[in-house]
Amino acid sequence: MATMDRPTLDRETAREVVDPASYAAWDPLLDTFDRLREENPVAWIEPGEEYAHPPFWLVTRYDDVMRMSKDNATFLNNPHTVVFSLTEGIEFAKAMTGGSEHLVASLVTFDGPIHMKYRKLTQEWFMPKNLRSVEDEIREIATAAVDRLLAEGEEVDFVKAVSAPYPLHVVMQIMGVPEEDEPRMLMLTQQLFGGQDDDLNQSGIKNLPPEAITQLVAGAVADFEAYFAKLTAERRANPTGDVASTIANAVIDGEPLNDRDMMGYYIILAAAGHDTTSASTAGAMLALAQDPEQWAKVKADRSLLGGIVEEAIRWTTPVQHFMRTAAEDTEVGGQQIAKGDWLMMNYVAANHDPAVFDNPRKFDAARSPNRHLAFGAGAHQCLGLHLARLEMRILFETLLDRIDSVELAGEPKRAKSTFVGGLKTLPLRLKAS
Ligand code: HEM
Repeated sequence: MATMDRPTLDRETAREVVDPASYAAWDPLLDTFDRLREENPVAWIEPGEEYAHPPFWLVTRYDDVMRMSKDNATFLNNPHTVVFSLTEGIEFAKAMTGGSEHLVASLVTFDGPIHMKYRKLTQEWFMPKNLRSVEDEIREIATAAVDRLLAEGEEVDFVKAVSAPYPLHVVMQIMGVPEEDEPRMLMLTQQLFGGQDDDLNQSGIKNLPPEAITQLVAGAVADFEAYFAKLTAERRANPTGDVASTIANAVIDGEPLNDRDMMGYYIILAAAGHDTTSASTAGAMLALAQDPEQWAKVKADRSLLGGIVEEAIRWTTPVQHFMRTAAEDTEVGGQQIAKGDWLMMNYVAANHDPAVFDNPRKFDAARSPNRHLAFGAGAHQCLGLHLARLEMRILFETLLDRIDSVELAGEPKRAKSTFVGGLKTLPLRLKAS
């Protein structure tokens, strides 16, 4: 099909969709998605002058994103990068890997039976039944986080004090990384995946010349490999109940995982497990700070907490999109898609689709059903979704036990990011119980 037959988005709207700053502004972007769902729900985006990237389809309706997520034979993860990337990023990954668009091979870059085999290795570990064994550990981490928060006084930045460090600490703990190594792990993931917001990416990688970036990333990969090779050896000699032990001792078709695949597993968990839950945790706190009555209500009746957690995950939609590649000529929302086309499933747009969610911009903890797409759906649905909910529930139980009231003490700011987004500051005034 000729490109000109495609319902191509105007330059300004196309720029808005790929500009990290739009995700910091939020409401104007939601207005744009409302318009697109009505007028051009499967829209073709060509690169503009400001951002060079391969062209792609933007999918904004809930039903279309849901159908694509569940049809893993037609919409593949492997052929092209699964996270929207500029052309220079894609070329960089290809140069680093010798041709693959994925800097790291992991669960999110596998398709079909291989994906299932790898996923099965840890799926049990992340199920609610097994997670009960780490509840006490998580509660200890939550208690320490709230102790530190309250020691800061009445005015705090909730992101810096709690919602950023807490999920990182949990995920590192379940991976068997000791606390003193956490800053190093954080730096390595930032060097590898280069967050788009300068305030959040402390690695300084974006300001370096290209050769220095190549060296830094190659160094980060080597550093990761060395770190986890040591951890793997330890867990093979003395397995504990942590997820690192499960990965270190995993066997596929009678063979232990090779180093590259094992590293991919560790890296995807380290990377997927913190910023995401940080964003939904900060969002839940923002919603409660904006509605003091809700805080008092849930403090008195903890059965309301489950609804708050789930709605915070929809309302924030921390993972803002994933990309897929069409395995064959197909159709999405009545639009012809050609084999090899790249498509963006926009979860922010899908989770604000008024055809499924009444008054979608409202935080409504009583929303039922709340079948949001923040965790995706189908074969790649978030592996850590039960852990994310558990972490949030335990943290808020601890906060509700120890804090009487919460209010906003300034304007919260969102991160500039097309991929994992959310608040980067949340100034609060707290009254301890
Ligand atoms: C995949 C969201 C927390 C590990 C995903 C996907 C989304 C997502 C949208 C892709 C789904 C798809 O393609 O259909 C979130 C959100 C979280 C969260 C919103 C927090 C609120 C976590 C945590 C972990 C985790 C805590 C683990 C420690 C993973 C992994 C995958 C994944 C390993 C890849 C699964 C696969 O490809 O089979 N997540 N996630 N996530 N997530 Fe999460």
